[in-house]
Amino acid sequence: MILATSFFQDHHFIEALYIVAFALFIVGLRGLAGPRTAPAGNRLAAVGMLIALIATLLITHVIRTGGDVALMAVGIGVGTAVGIPAARSVRMTAMPQMVALFNGVGGGAVALIAWVEYRRRFPGAGGAHWDLKAEIPSLFAAIIGSISFWGSNIAFAKLQELLPGRPIQLPAQRFINGLLLLVAVVSAVILASGTHSQALFILGILAAAAVLGNMVVLPIGGADMPVVISLLNAFTGISAAMTGIALDNTALIVAGTLVGASGSILTNMMAVAMNRSVPAIVAGGFGGGGTTPAAAAGDEDRQVRATSADDVAIQLSYADRVVVVPGYGMAVAQAQHAVRELMDELETRGVNVDFAIHPVAGRMPGHMNVLLAEADVPYEKLKEMDEINPEFPQTDVSLVIGANDVTNPDARENEGSPIYGMPILDVDRSGQVIVLKRSMNTGFAGIDNPLFYNENTALLFGDAKESVSQVVAEVKELG
Ligand code: TAP
Repeated sequence: MILATSFFQDHHFIEALYIVAFALFIVGLRGLAGPRTAPAGNRLAAVGMLIALIATLLITHVIRTGGDVALMAVGIGVGTAVGIPAARSVRMTAMPQMVALFNGVGGGAVALIAWVEYRRRFPGAGGAHWDLKAEIPSLFAAIIGSISFWGSNIAFAKLQELLPGRPIQLPAQRFINGLLLLVAVVSAVILASGTHSQALFILGILAAAAVLGNMVVLPIGGADMPVVISLLNAFTGISAAMTGIALDNTALIVAGTLVGASGSILTNMMAVAMNRSVPAIVAGGFGGGGTTPAAAAGDEDRQVRATSADDVAIQLSYADRVVVVPGYGMAVAQAQHAVRELMDELETRGVNVDFAIHPVAGRMPGHMNVLLAEADVPYEKLKEMDEINPEFPQTDVSLVIGANDVTNPDARENEGSPIYGMPILDVDRSGQVIVLKRSMNTGFAGIDNPLFYNENTALLFGDAKESVSQVVAEVKELG
């Protein structure tokens, strides 16, 4: 029995378990790259995390008393009781705020570990000497983890509409932010230098970083939140890796680095696809989530052509090839099931229907893929931007459902446009364009879209779900 216990607690056995866990993390992460492989990837990574957890508990000094075990059991119990029902019941559209909340908890845990380590290690706080090579990463983790926790909470509150989604600008904001960062860094340097070790300094770090986390996210518009959440996610990963260095725990270093790296890559991909820089997003003030009527100087004479559901039904039914371009409005209207029905009706009439997916259509990565998958649209029908763009000139009708910015030709042609350079779906190059929207309001970027005024464009005004349902009914009428 003793032999078996010492085998399981052997350093090499624990390291071997960690290596299995890391392999599962990496294979799982790779699976997340595609919707088909994502569920299996997620499960593999979860099994990896379970193995890493068991390996950590096997380390002899981790569990020391019966009290520790009881505390851990309570923690695992509460986490499971909250986590499983929350993950099962969350609506797809509420996913970004869910990620914000879970990410924030990670950052908060890291900040708390730094506090506990301070209490354990400092002679003044009743502990042993704090080794510099553990102390520096711990203090770094305290700052970043605390920013991430508080910033994520604000992001959650904005997306959940507990706080206004619009940017909240405060006077002298950048100066105050700089001051807060200075307080946190100077306190960390004082602690690390060993000249002072009072609790005031670690509390100063945690408090300054907490206020900074709030101050940094408040001025950012609700619609930019997915990018900010991804950035905060990367922060949490980096701070967890730092904590891993401080605690000399390989699992935390590897898992934290994977989260930090993948979060950074995703943040960058989103920023590139929106043709905006991450610093510009963090500087805030753009994309407050509100919409304004389009009114560019000198365009008073431009007219749009309104159309009706029966005209749209005829155009679609007699086309050979139709490309559906979904956007944020399809998500708002929850029109995906009606869109699937339309696709079925058209295909039974011999029309070839595909879907054009822009990487930042909607408000979160993969937003359109998730909605269309929910409505059982076959995955083969979803074409990415680079694949579908050359096909627009051979497309009879592009049906734009609640998309706006991702179809704006100004991004391609107008150097003065705020979204100039953002890759777009070239719908204006198709034979006919039908746009479903409720009004002449702008999209996320708050700018006019010349596509709507083109001769080959017609607008079907109304809620996307109602409009698509009417078109389906009219297509059926055609027999
Ligand atoms: P938007 O440009 O935001 O346009 C959405 C359109 O949907 C609007 O023109 C709106 O017009 C219409 N709409 C809203 N509710 C509707 C409803 N119930 N029925 C019918 N139409 C409705 O959307 P997009 O083309 O998908 O572009 C996404 C934008 O979000 C980009 O600018 C992107 O940079 C930004 N963004 C994306 C992400 C990610 S990761 N996807 C993250 C942050 C920001 P009406 O009000 O007139 O109906």
